[in-house]
Amino acid sequence: MTNAEIIALLQEDLKGELMAIVQYLRHAYAMGEGELAAEIEAIAREEMRHFDWVAETIVELGGKPSMERGAFTGITDDVVQNMRADVQAEVDAINLYRQHIEAIPDPKIQRLLSRILSDEESHHGDFVHFVDKAGAMAEAAPAEAPAAEAKPAGPPARLAAILHEGIQHEYTVILQYLYHRFMMPDCEIGNELEMQAINEMQHLGWLSEEMEGIGGTPEIEHTGLELPDDPEEMLEADIKVERMVTAAYSRQIPEIEDPGLKDLVTRIRDHEIYHIELFGDLLEEVEAQEKESAPPEEKPAAPSAPQPPTVGSLFGQKQD
Ligand SMILES: [Fe+2]
Ligand SMILES: [Fe+2]
Ligand SMILES: [Fe+2]
Repeated sequence: MTNAEIIALLQEDLKGELMAIVQYLRHAYAMGEGELAAEIEAIAREEMRHFDWVAETIVELGGKPSMERGAFTGITDDVVQNMRADVQAEVDAINLYRQHIEAIPDPKIQRLLSRILSDEESHHGDFVHFVDKAGAMAEAAPAEAPAAEAKPAGPPARLAAILHEGIQHEYTVILQYLYHRFMMPDCEIGNELEMQAINEMQHLGWLSEEMEGIGGTPEIEHTGLELPDDPEEMLEADIKVERMVTAAYSRQIPEIEDPGLKDLVTRIRDHEIYHIELFGDLLEEVEAQEKESAPPEEKPAAPSAPQPPTVGSLFGQKQD
């Protein structure tokens, strides 16, 4: 089995993980606060770890992780139906990982996939239990069951449009920053990008819950992703998108009447301003290091001369 063939199988796993993350989050956001929602979010976080591990393995093999997502097995207004769809998602994942463990001869990758498989088996049991739990909740208190919870008639159009734009932006940057971090592993920039991707996940959660709160549906879809190969270009793209969204949130804030939501969007906007500054600092460091490590114009350095620090230390690449 060639590396390219292994990468192709792992890309399928990655699509499944991204599907599970978003589907489970959608199910949890729709429930609002509560024990069941918290348990489902905890499972989504485990899927995020799987997503990370599989993507890192793809990069180690020389591939570029796909940010494509598999098809949802079900997102409805009914909690029991949703839990059944999640059981199905876990069955699909278990089958796929079993096939891939058998097909991929590399013991290290087999070990990783087996580790993930054991999580999926545990999630499967959890969701089977949640089907019963959600069913019992619906029977015990039909009026208060999450499935039957009355939603507001319909969200105000402008507010829904603002939240929709924010949700799409947040999902886009999560994928973009994670991809950039996968391509720059084990280094300061990669670590910072991962931290900020986690911050953007918080934003996505807040906005999605607000959307559910006004009776809308958080459509978690991304817009254009900028995935260049060069670290400088990555940071420039990240700064560009942060500037764009800071301007958008700043325009929208005066339009928002609800004081709680106004504060929330202001807080998010302020985080984005921080991101612009942080990414700007990182870009400056990269540019400075690249200048320093640029080969001398005329005379090559004597072999015994101490080597200047290279840009590799910032990116975590092996230095020779
Ligand atoms: Fe998973
Ligand atoms: Fe954000
Ligand atoms: Fe941001």
